[in-house]
Amino acid sequence: RTSLGPNVTKCQASFSDADAPVNCCAGVPSFTEEELLATAVDFKFPEFNSSNIRVRRPVHTIKDQDYIARYRRATEYLKNLPLNHPHNFARQANMHCMYCTGAYDQVNYDMVLKIHRTRLFFPWHRAYLYFHERILAKVMGEEDDNFAVPYWNWDVPEGMYMPEMFMEGSLYHFNREETHFPPLVTQNDFYRTDNNLTSEERVEANLALMYVQMVSGARSTELFMGCPVKPGPAGWCMGLGTLEMYPHNSIHSWTGKLANPEREDMGAFYSAARDPLFYSHHANIDRLWDVWRDLYDYKLEWDDPDWFESFFYFYDENMQLVRVKVSDMLDRTKLGYRYVESPTPWLNHRP
Ligand code: C2O
Repeated sequence: RTSLGPNVTKCQASFSDADAPVNCCAGVPSFTEEELLATAVDFKFPEFNSSNIRVRRPVHTIKDQDYIARYRRATEYLKNLPLNHPHNFARQANMHCMYCTGAYDQVNYDMVLKIHRTRLFFPWHRAYLYFHERILAKVMGEEDDNFAVPYWNWDVPEGMYMPEMFMEGSLYHFNREETHFPPLVTQNDFYRTDNNLTSEERVEANLALMYVQMVSGARSTELFMGCPVKPGPAGWCMGLGTLEMYPHNSIHSWTGKLANPEREDMGAFYSAARDPLFYSHHANIDRLWDVWRDLYDYKLEWDDPDWFESFFYFYDENMQLVRVKVSDMLDRTKLGYRYVESPTPWLNHRP
């Protein structure tokens, strides 16, 4: 039997959520089956110890100007690489586009692969962020080898703003909604609440929403993680988990520019990762996966080979093409990074 994964021998034209043609394939090489076999290696867990583990911190607590300057310089550097360089910033964004819009078919099936709105959502983004972080660290040089991306802590009141760090230099992005710039409080349920809440009411609404998405609405694996997609037409499904819907999707839309047809860039899958803030947003999503596991004392969501063997391809920091399986991404403690713990004020905000 075949596992669920992309047929990377052909990157094809694909479409946005609003059915506009998008082209994510620019700069992407195409492989024959043989070339792919000869090129790609299987993922290996990194070696690390307590002194060089990467520590992801809440972005609003970071005052270290040196860290901010280095992060900006490294991002600038990636933006200036040629588009056919696997580390080029736009090309990394296009990789998100490819896996979101169906630029790849599934291996052995005449149907597209999409990683949103299913249980591939958490592991795919974990891997994507993992490699982005390692590429940034590599660019910064040896003394910064333990560089870690910050997380946008929009689930605590102090973090419910577009982060200052991303409002300048190469971390700034022009295609954002300016009326949502700080000090406006994030609207974590962008599609539901009315717009006339005061800041205090907005904070309360955000906390109550978190309670529903993480606790009362997320009591089963499928509710939280999304539907259990499997290979081929028989395994197709679409059903997104609570956190992916809100605040994940809504923070995307809230950040993107309202005047653009699909609230680009953050508001549309094909363009979202062009905004550097994407990575910080997803660091928080990644962190909350572990928080949810702890709340329910889950170790593993499914004991299912179809899930474990699902796979993707990424370029690592040495430009090596790596084949990553979902099973590689299920234990964060093996991946060489950790999160500075955040308070969970939403736990006592049952609506
Ligand atoms: Cu792949 Cu936040 O979307």
